[in-house]
Amino acid sequence: MQPNPFAEVPTTAPERIAPDTWLIPNLAPAGDGLFLPVNSLVIRGREPVIVDTGAPIHRALWVEKAFSVVEPEDVRWIFLSHDDGDHTGALFDVLEHCPQATLVTNFFAVERLALEKPALPLQRMRWLEPGDRLDVGDRVLQLFRPPVFDGPTTRGLFDPKTGAMWAVDSFACFTPGALDADALPADLLSGITALGSAVSPWHAWLDRERYGRHVDTIEALGARTVASAHGPVLRGGRLDDAFDRVRALAGAPIVPLPGQELLDTLLAATMAEAAG
Ligand SMILES: [Fe+2]
Ligand SMILES: [Fe+2]
Repeated sequence: MQPNPFAEVPTTAPERIAPDTWLIPNLAPAGDGLFLPVNSLVIRGREPVIVDTGAPIHRALWVEKAFSVVEPEDVRWIFLSHDDGDHTGALFDVLEHCPQATLVTNFFAVERLALEKPALPLQRMRWLEPGDRLDVGDRVLQLFRPPVFDGPTTRGLFDPKTGAMWAVDSFACFTPGALDADALPADLLSGITALGSAVSPWHAWLDRERYGRHVDTIEALGARTVASAHGPVLRGGRLDDAFDRVRALAGAPIVPLPGQELLDTLLAATMAEAAG
């Protein structure tokens, strides 16, 4: 029998992180008692918005959690930050269960998804680019290009009404279970640098000043609460620190990732377990 990969995963539940704004968390085992968050968001305003749809491994859990904070028939918008699999896990469930919802995405994301998923309904879409705005009734959401990203179609989302920001794959960091940066030890938060380097290794060739100005424009949006797909919720000094870490990636060497040595260790552990 295969071991249950969720057996050791701490239970997480939707959490209100800003007015009208709910984090939909899930965790994936990352070894050594740590987990990678795989979050998404629900903005429960006049026209409710689902922001990303989780990873395929969490699909059933995601559907249960997301629809515990918003009624599917009330959802008016599905904001897809980009086409990566860990953000599109329950996309077709949401399209099916939320008949009033329009999918907010972009041309290139749709082109890329066409290679791996059934056709998406063009008549239910809106294509927006960084700098565009989305009027959702009681607020106007702003799209931007996040400081760190692992897919070219990536767009972040900022809600000026609440000061909440969705930073997508930026600010990623492992956690023992906590979803708030204030509850994480400083050494784990330094992982924002390593995971930022892992998803955007092109940082090594960035001009520090020019990239700094790009990060400044994102910081100047004035977010007070920043949530992301793979990191803890950031506010105050933790948020300042996260922006500084990202800025410092410009021109810095790529952080090396584990290689064959780790694979050998994992295989040895698996074989020892099987033998024991
Ligand atoms: Fe991604
Ligand atoms: Fe991601």
